[in-house]
Amino acid sequence: QAKNLFPYNIMLIGFMGSGKSTIAKYLSHILEMEDLETDEFIVKREDMTINEIFQRKGEEYFRQCENNALRELETRQGIIISCGGGMPMKDENVELMKRNGKIVLLTASPQTIYDRVKYSNQRPLLNGNMNVEYIESLMEKRKDRYESIADIVVDTNDKPIHVIAEEVVSKL
Ligand code: S3P
Repeated sequence: QAKNLFPYNIMLIGFMGSGKSTIAKYLSHILEMEDLETDEFIVKREDMTINEIFQRKGEEYFRQCENNALRELETRQGIIISCGGGMPMKDENVELMKRNGKIVLLTASPQTIYDRVKYSNQRPLLNGNMNVEYIESLMEKRKDRYESIADIVVDTNDKPIHVIAEEVVSKL
């Protein structure tokens, strides 16, 4: 039986490669809370990979899937949700996310992000744009929104996973 130390959901947000999934798994282990990824949730619902959804249906459709996922998850409590990096960019998602739990923003420099994601071919927005400059420009467009909805911000540059996770827990 999960301990459920936190009577709310923990929503991890941040750029692709900021460590959301990794930290969610680690937190899930130490806090004994269930974790789930909105990307995985959508892949199951749509029965397509993220790349396929973007290719066949387009980004707007994917954003709507994220909105649907949030609505479905509204009834859940005491879970850790790792959100797709672009989720907060859709205005309709912001209120839902805020209602859904405590929002933890993980940050990292463009270079760190690049080093973490450079071999990934599962990030359609970076396919063909896999370089530090592009990452920096997309991050710039998202920064204000990320910061404005975050309850907690934790920098992840040059830190081992357990240190990042402990920092998150200490701020919850
Ligand atoms: C996206 C981030 C991805 C995934 C999709 C779009 C984004 O998730 O949802 O490729 O717009 O930043 P991760 O942040 O888990 O890589």
